[in-house]
Amino acid sequence: MTHSDQSSPLAARASGPLAGNVRVPGDKSISHRALILGALAVGETRVSGLLEGEDVLNTAKAMRTLGAKVERIGPFAWVVRGVGVAGFAQPQAPLDFGNSGTGCRLVMGAVAGCPITAIFEGDASLRSRPMRRVLEPLELMGARVVASGEGGRLPLTLQGAHDPVPLTYRTPVASAQIKSAVLLAGLAAPGVTTVVETEASRDHTELMLKHFGAHIVSAREGAHGRRIALTGQPELHGASVVVPADPSSAAFPIVAALIVEGSDLVLSDVMTNPLRTGLFTTLREMGASIEESQVRGDAGEPMAQFRVRASKLRGVEVPPERAPSMIDEYLVLAVAAAFAEGTTIMRGLQELRVKESDRLQATAAMLRVNGVQVEISGDDLIVEGKGHVPGGGLVATHMDHRIAMSALVMGLASDKPVKVDDTAFIATSFPDFIPMMRGLGAEFS
Ligand code: S3P
Repeated sequence: MTHSDQSSPLAARASGPLAGNVRVPGDKSISHRALILGALAVGETRVSGLLEGEDVLNTAKAMRTLGAKVERIGPFAWVVRGVGVAGFAQPQAPLDFGNSGTGCRLVMGAVAGCPITAIFEGDASLRSRPMRRVLEPLELMGARVVASGEGGRLPLTLQGAHDPVPLTYRTPVASAQIKSAVLLAGLAAPGVTTVVETEASRDHTELMLKHFGAHIVSAREGAHGRRIALTGQPELHGASVVVPADPSSAAFPIVAALIVEGSDLVLSDVMTNPLRTGLFTTLREMGASIEESQVRGDAGEPMAQFRVRASKLRGVEVPPERAPSMIDEYLVLAVAAAFAEGTTIMRGLQELRVKESDRLQATAAMLRVNGVQVEISGDDLIVEGKGHVPGGGLVATHMDHRIAMSALVMGLASDKPVKVDDTAFIATSFPDFIPMMRGLGAEFS
């Protein structure tokens, strides 16, 4: 890890109207996948708009350790020369994913299909996160966990399969990381690997596999699910990938603009894949003024320009089936809910407990310490919106970038400043968050 032992606290205070035109950094999910698929393809992959956050840089490093050539040729512009499906070399050093569950779990899948043994490492947050959910299907495909921490946690040594077998797997939770790990291992298996999900999760792996030349089909399954079938052992060809702006990062300036009176912001190239836009649907239901225009797309991923204006928000009920399409956005939605009038009920949030931190507890704590009435009931989060937030609290970030950014957004409109104990982890996903927000008018000190 690159984080020093010294933490970097920061306070956000009530700010004037936020205004300007920005592009938030590239999508984290797509950035990881572009590097991994580039490394598994034959030939050259050119990526523009890559997120140069710590999580993705750790994946880039892991791809190099596994034998791919990964080079930065300009700001956010990278070239990957891949080794071909199942072509990873025996790594000579542990693969350290820092804070990133996505990088770690997806690469576990890719390694599971190769006849190599790799050590997976991470920071204290990643070492506390469950890995069995990914390892179980990978073991069914022929990989073997040689050593691990308690309960299959990191640090972990994974031996890939010599002859991976295709699998039909029903994911026990809606998780794009589990789905993607199985599909990446399935690339190396002969025959068809199928993943069935009861609730559809983000489909960037499927879209990008198609873009790189794999044969993959996705069909509806039940009311909200998908059945995805990948034909193994394709020749993946290097491709060009334009990474759209990350809607999960855009969420922070968007909510900030909604709650800071008089704000008027424009955000360009925001990815609008419907499996990622649950937050925008919810905010609109709350009365948010979010206009969308100039829709275009690249390699199956749509994007749009957003204009967001400060709005009077009201409490709503968010159904559990919407959770996969906004799983990373509940923290900042809870901030919007605190500034709304009325009760917001967010249902079915069990997966929040196993993110970079226990986000269900952390969200409640962040609000409570700033004078907001909040309750956890089973897997539901209930926020009592009173139209304003007293603030004045110190928020513990628990090595979680999204807690830090959500709390700072809250402070921009609360009665008293909101302080966070550490901003260092913001660098995992949104390195320019603080200067970008300052440029829009945010007051941090
Ligand atoms: C991601 C999937 C989600 C999400 C994470 C990124 C991905 O995790 O929370 O930030 O890129 O596949 P789960 O698959 O565990 O829900």
